[in-house]
Amino acid sequence: MRQDLLHGGSQKLDYEIRDIVKKAEQLQKLGKKIYWENIGDPILKNADVPLWIKEIVSGLTMDNKSYGYCHSKGIVETRKFLAEKNNDFGGVQIDFDDILFFNGLGDAIGKLYQFLNPYSRVIGPSPAYSTHSAFEAAHSNKEPITYNLDPDNNWYPDLEDLYLKVKYNPSIVGILIINPDNPTGVVYPESYLKRIVEIAKEFNLFVVSDEIYGNIIYNDNKTKRLSQVLGDVPGISLKGISKEVPWPDSRCGWMEFYNRKADKNFDEYCQALENAKMVEVCCTTLPQTAIPKIFSHPKYYEYLEQKNKSIANRSTIIGNHFQDVKFIKFNKTNGAFYNTIVFQEGVLNNNQFLKIEDDETRVLAESWVEGVEKSDSRFVYYLLAAKGVCVVPLSSFQSDLLGFRITLLEENPEVLQYTFVQIADAINEFCNSDKVQVAEEVKSY
Ligand SMILES: Cc1ncc(COP(=O)(O)O)c(C=O)c1O
Repeated sequence: MRQDLLHGGSQKLDYEIRDIVKKAEQLQKLGKKIYWENIGDPILKNADVPLWIKEIVSGLTMDNKSYGYCHSKGIVETRKFLAEKNNDFGGVQIDFDDILFFNGLGDAIGKLYQFLNPYSRVIGPSPAYSTHSAFEAAHSNKEPITYNLDPDNNWYPDLEDLYLKVKYNPSIVGILIINPDNPTGVVYPESYLKRIVEIAKEFNLFVVSDEIYGNIIYNDNKTKRLSQVLGDVPGISLKGISKEVPWPDSRCGWMEFYNRKADKNFDEYCQALENAKMVEVCCTTLPQTAIPKIFSHPKYYEYLEQKNKSIANRSTIIGNHFQDVKFIKFNKTNGAFYNTIVFQEGVLNNNQFLKIEDDETRVLAESWVEGVEKSDSRFVYYLLAAKGVCVVPLSSFQSDLLGFRITLLEENPEVLQYTFVQIADAINEFCNSDKVQVAEEVKSY
């Protein structure tokens, strides 16, 4: 080519959550059954969308308007409905013009970073949901800047770490929160949110809160929405319907701008995000029309409550599987539907393995782990090959910790039981495998 085609930052768009699927598909070709624990898609894990939601959606398919473009920023009535919903929480008040629809929240996240000056950075949590960290890194063509979530303190953010990083890095213009969090399942206590807002205020930053799991909180946990703690600090909340309805195929997510006029620069940035949508067309007419109908349906909150109860129940079942496994740190989750399991320091090395009887599968697994530096990836690849369970290594969530992420989504109790027995057994076998091997070598000597 006449010039280099690639943006330097494109290298940062590596996404293990999808890459692991290619490996699982290789196994499927060998006839192996896969237990998918790698993706937060409730539908894939047997969630049943209730009939009354299906009736709303099927009713809309009979309306000709559902097949057209809508307003570039999103349907006005839906935005009015959502603005009112936000305002009912009593925090920062907005109107429909402060809401902007995207083709899925993933699309919104991409645009959020794309229109920031490359020297302006948003600090985000570590571990991080990779769509945020990858797009942030791609926009700046630098490694993500992160604050730690602490597995020894319920995965709460290390506020001192955040404060010092913000204080000594003047390129930081924004703080990202994911609440409830993917991948840890932590729910931020109100006091932590307030402190984060205080830090943003002190250094003149904006706050972004990804609240796609905002209605998925259980085990009697509580938090606040960004708009309830933000005061007069500029902020953006990210919301969507992929997880709670659940309707990932709707590709329907939105931003809510808070205190836009409090800062001229922030207002111009929001305007740029709007302009980016104005040069496209908005194409999620049907799900946007469905949102007020679903959210205001008399059965909706009862339905959410019952779904949250089942996730809470699975958080306990999964906890029971892992509480006696000595090689890991385990935190029971209270929000979203993921759990991140961390290996204790020093228990992993690059000699460990799981026994695989079938030669073809073993050769494949050995080719995957060859040259792999991160020992949590090594565990994950062996787990996949030996037990057919597909999880994602923690090192691919912008973290120096070693571990992996599972989901709390499996609706079928036998499959849930089977999957977590396999994982717990695999941890014990893998972490003991180098010792067993040494013992066998000594015996044969
Ligand atoms: C924290 C978070 N934000 C955003 C998304 C993307 O959602 P969507 O399906 O609307 O693109 C996900 C999906 O897993 C997520 O976990």
